[in-house]
Amino acid sequence: QVSSLTLNDGNSIPPIGLGVFQIPDERTADVVGTAVEAGYRLIDTAAVYGNELGVGKGLADSGVAREEISVVTKVWNDDQGYDETLRAFETSAGLLGLEYVDLYLIHWPRPRLDRYVATWRALEKLKADGRVGSIGVSNFGREEITRLLDECDVPPAVNQIELHPGLPRTELREFHAQHGIATQAWSPLGRGQGFLEHPAITEIARDHGRTPAQVVLRWHSQLGVVPLPKSVSPTRLRGNLDIFGFQLSGAEMDRLTEIGTDFRVGPDPALFFDVS
Ligand code: A2P
Repeated sequence: QVSSLTLNDGNSIPPIGLGVFQIPDERTADVVGTAVEAGYRLIDTAAVYGNELGVGKGLADSGVAREEISVVTKVWNDDQGYDETLRAFETSAGLLGLEYVDLYLIHWPRPRLDRYVATWRALEKLKADGRVGSIGVSNFGREEITRLLDECDVPPAVNQIELHPGLPRTELREFHAQHGIATQAWSPLGRGQGFLEHPAITEIARDHGRTPAQVVLRWHSQLGVVPLPKSVSPTRLRGNLDIFGFQLSGAEMDRLTEIGTDFRVGPDPALFFDVS
């Protein structure tokens, strides 16, 4: 693998990771074990995925030293608020079987609920107490991030968003760069089947003798984005990690970015969970 990414708080994270959304808890330990064996050093889960126990078990069984792995988890919407978040963190850490978590994120902003600033204060406390290494957000937009930057002490280290060539998020990525916020991508493959058959992707893959998934993950990497592809297949897990031995040209990068047609596979943060 290539070098890790340095965050705005001085910590570093691997340049690619495994996302475990929708992997059943009882299957997760095996998948995580295979991934760690293949070389993954970043695992991305969330309280709402219901598989933190499996992630912790997979890591414990892997025999890899704790400090070599970056574990990411997220506080769920129902647990937003200062005290609620501190409690939710203890539950997550308990299920994971970990003393500390490398990166803790607010899963969705829910602006109309207006609790994400209090939630952020709890994340700042967890960081100050050494329970989490870095703190960040997920599915946040420019407005919500600006509010945290204006009202809080610690700026987010990461915003984890839906991002792939169907939804390249160019403006938000530029905003992140201006504020030293790292971009992580969920569903970096546009959920795989169908999307990966787009002609721009398959043609570039053929030209490089690579798989469509490798081309898309390489596109992320060259943009400076940390992709978190999900797979339960050992072959695809290994293939998705093998993206550092080739280079896309500027024209190929542009061609992939221009696929972007507002193709969303997940909920739109502007609408999701905001009606309550
Ligand atoms: P599987 O778990 O059977 O490998 P995303 O991370 O964008 O949400 O995409 C995940 C989806 O893409 C899953 O359905 C996964 O299926 C599939 N996938 C993961 N890696 C590859 C790959 N290298 N080629 C094709 N499909 C893939």
